[in-house]
Amino acid sequence: MSSTEDNNLPNGWEVKEYEFSGHNLKITTFKGASLGVSAYVWEPGLVLCRYFENEKINFTGKKVIELGSGTGIVGILTVLLGGDVTITDKPHILNQIEYNVSANIPVSSRHRSKVCALAWGDDQENYTADYDFILGSDIVYNPTQFPSLLQTLLHLCKENTTIYLSSELKYREGSAQFHDELVPEQFNSKLIHASKTNCIYKVTKKIPGNER
Ligand SMILES: C[S@@+](CC[C@H](N)C(=O)[O-])C[C@H]1O[C@@H](n2cnc3c(N)ncnc32)[C@H](O)[C@@H]1O
Repeated sequence: MSSTEDNNLPNGWEVKEYEFSGHNLKITTFKGASLGVSAYVWEPGLVLCRYFENEKINFTGKKVIELGSGTGIVGILTVLLGGDVTITDKPHILNQIEYNVSANIPVSSRHRSKVCALAWGDDQENYTADYDFILGSDIVYNPTQFPSLLQTLLHLCKENTTIYLSSELKYREGSAQFHDELVPEQFNSKLIHASKTNCIYKVTKKIPGNER
């Protein structure tokens, strides 16, 4: 990862470069634009990108939705890995994501990316449950949001949908309880990657008679 200075950027904006699966990503964060936690690239996002690289995951032909995308980094890489990806967050974050989509996805592939508002618990009915993958990195950190997040995951998930959740367990309030207790009530969940501070879970919906 490297930082670059760009004097043409608005005051406070910051650009950092990342490399995953042979793709160079230039991610701009709109610091100073009151985007809060969304104006950072968080470790769980980078860990999920590295997991896709290490596992050589190819999303060609797959329909994907990302929740709480922030800068867009995970969704953008997923488009570059072949996916047809809907990148979502709260409405006021979308300009930052669109900026990064334009900067990183070639025009020839941009038809496979959509940037849309999805506030958990409120907007999921605008989306039909026909996704092959649902992605979420560092979206498990606020216990008051857990019921809405679970409601959204349940709505978007069909029988064969795979959810990848990359979470910081140690320093995010309630994160361990979310993964160990709340998710397993309605989903099958498997820990597929663990480092000192970060875990990736592969999650599928529990279907009666089909406990995968
Ligand atoms: C800690 S950031 C993680 C951003 C990015 N996924 C990453 O790994 O760098 C959490 C993201 O979840 C989004 N978020 C939080 N609550 C949300 C909600 N109720 N509905 C939709 N998005 C939400 C925030 O706007 C923010 O972009």
